[in-house]
Amino acid sequence: MELSSRNLHIPQRAESTSPTLTKVFLDTASADEIREFLSWGIGDGVTTNQKIFLSEGNVDFKKRVLEICEMKKDWPVSVETTTKGFEELVAEAEMYSKWHGNVVVKVAMDKDGTGLKVVKRLHDEGIRTNMTVMVTLNQLFLAAKAGATYVSLFFNRARDAGLDPVKAIRDITPFLRKNGGAELIVGSIRKGEDVEEIVAAGADIATITPKVLRQMVFHAKTEETIKEFDDAWKEFVAKNNLVLPTFRRT
Ligand code: E4P
Repeated sequence: MELSSRNLHIPQRAESTSPTLTKVFLDTASADEIREFLSWGIGDGVTTNQKIFLSEGNVDFKKRVLEICEMKKDWPVSVETTTKGFEELVAEAEMYSKWHGNVVVKVAMDKDGTGLKVVKRLHDEGIRTNMTVMVTLNQLFLAAKAGATYVSLFFNRARDAGLDPVKAIRDITPFLRKNGGAELIVGSIRKGEDVEEIVAAGADIATITPKVLRQMVFHAKTEETIKEFDDAWKEFVAKNNLVLPTFRRT
């Protein structure tokens, strides 16, 4: 069999079929929020879209993208294309990718295949893409075949449509890993419990809003237990007349 460069398999990342801990991307364009979560040790990447930028109010779009890109070394920052038509989309994507090496261009899966054509072209040009707004395994499958670096499943929008996103995650993840191709990002997360389902299903990446991340650290039982321990410590200190030092870093 003749081996041409067209049928050579070039893996984009280490091939592995074993489960790995889900990465967390920050689904926001707020520089302050991103800085905060990075200080928690949370944030392997960032995803943005038009609605996320709208919620930021008055911001310089390019400046904010660059600011986010600079916050961490070599981390993927998804920026969504907004135009229509193949040529326009490719030109827009090329512009974003030139802004910064960390930019990953988001391209929507549309009904006539233009998005797939754009992803294929960008893949051929060596530009990383995140094919987005997908709700079915078929869409994820085609996006991965077209050469997307990331394929994004919209978890709750899939559920809104009566689909089973957990099954889609479970069914496609082993194949994506085995082929060393696209990584699965699961977005459209509305509550902490969604994240538990997504992590248990073995998704590569969950992209989570600041609001949901804050819900995830809280449980009333944890707070109640901390209070119980604090009260016990106060009682112990009082009973033993302990004089405690003031802890302060110099
Ligand atoms: C993911 O990349 C998207 O930004 C996001 O999760 C979209 O979800 P939503 O519009 O349903 O909130």
